[in-house]
Amino acid sequence: MDKVKIGFVGAGGMGSAQMAKIAARSDAQIEMLFEVNVERGKEVLKELSLDESILVDSYQKIIDNPNIDAVWLVSPNGFHGEQSIQAMEAGKHVFCEKPCATTFDDYCTQIELEGKNPALKTYVNYLMCFDPMQNDIKGMIARDELGKITQIQINYRYPINVAGPAKWKLSKEIMGDSIGMGTVHSLSAIVHIMSPQAKPVAVYATELESQLKGFESPPIHNIVIKFDNGATGFCFGDIETAKGFDLYHSVSGTKGGFVFENQQPQAKNKVRFCNEATKGEWVWPLNEEKCKADGFENLIWSEDKILSDTGEAANARLDSCIEHFIVCVKENKKSFLSFGNSSIIAQIGWAAQMSAATGKEIALPLDIEEAKKFFAN
Ligand SMILES: NC(=O)c1ccc[n+]([C@@H]2O[C@H](COP(=O)([O-])OP(=O)(O)OC[C@H]3O[C@@H](n4cnc5c(N)ncnc54)[C@H](O)[C@@H]3O)[C@@H](O)[C@H]2O)c1
Repeated sequence: MDKVKIGFVGAGGMGSAQMAKIAARSDAQIEMLFEVNVERGKEVLKELSLDESILVDSYQKIIDNPNIDAVWLVSPNGFHGEQSIQAMEAGKHVFCEKPCATTFDDYCTQIELEGKNPALKTYVNYLMCFDPMQNDIKGMIARDELGKITQIQINYRYPINVAGPAKWKLSKEIMGDSIGMGTVHSLSAIVHIMSPQAKPVAVYATELESQLKGFESPPIHNIVIKFDNGATGFCFGDIETAKGFDLYHSVSGTKGGFVFENQQPQAKNKVRFCNEATKGEWVWPLNEEKCKADGFENLIWSEDKILSDTGEAANARLDSCIEHFIVCVKENKKSFLSFGNSSIIAQIGWAAQMSAATGKEIALPLDIEEAKKFFAN
């Protein structure tokens, strides 16, 4: 395959950013665009110097086009399930924005279809897994530099935009739940960072109804994750009342720890870690002066290594995830974030909803029949 031919769906804020990156590549081509807002579709195509004739008025035209290898779904959440299932049934690879689905049945069908069609490549855009800092922490854990991890906290508190055309995010039917909308980013980071050492085995969560903006689905969650090595993970999730963007990280192990405070105003103090190499002393790798004074020159980091705290973190790691999906399709490789391979990340979200509603801890992997019954009601 020379170029991956793409049927792109949804040219909104995130979609147009991804279209620009795909259009700049030589190994992929946007063959068709389905965008329900025709004016918006035309405008984005014009901005990217793409031919207006590729804008189509129904998703079915993408499905029916034999030249299209992959669909690229950046439509509102509530369409991901149905659109991805239709694409897989038509033999097309799927790049799917998170959440993978807003109904438990669609989530199950996606995994089932992937299992039955191993040639199809699927990918859910948990883009925190491509962040250099997340991968550094994961590396430290893989190399046993932090010892046995006992506690990990990663928050996702960000007041998402619900104004104007973004008001679909208030609707339960279209947005689904707020974990899938935003908090899942931190859940994916927790699972990814812990993966060299432990797997999640249970979830307990609480939630709070909308306080300010009228979200139909509770926008605030507190999620506790138990791991099979005895560690506990924690995530404050809040897509409504958060003040700015809180992506606080704290990882604690028997040999060291790692802290990222993105809301700390002084860049040089945003990251600190300690391990055996630092003799248990905290080192601030973004503080060049201090590292030199303390004899830790070898541990100095450049600032581009850390997550952006402007709310643009999503945009910042797009190149890597787009590259990853295209390589998976071209080289016939299964993504580590395929529907099936990333299913535990989504399961933490489903389990958190079940736990918040019942007040009970929910075991992972989920009892699928029990979960189906819960979500059918
Ligand atoms: N991975 C990330 O970090 C990240 C970041 C932002 C958004 N997202 C996801 O991207 C998706 C889009 O979010 P956004 O912020 O760009 O929203 P948006 O409202 O800016 O864009 C959505 C676009 O989809 C169009 N649309 C509506 N119904 C459609 C349908 N049935 N089929 C095709 N297009 C349709 C709308 O007209 C709009 O242009 C969401 O699923 C969101 O969760 C992911």
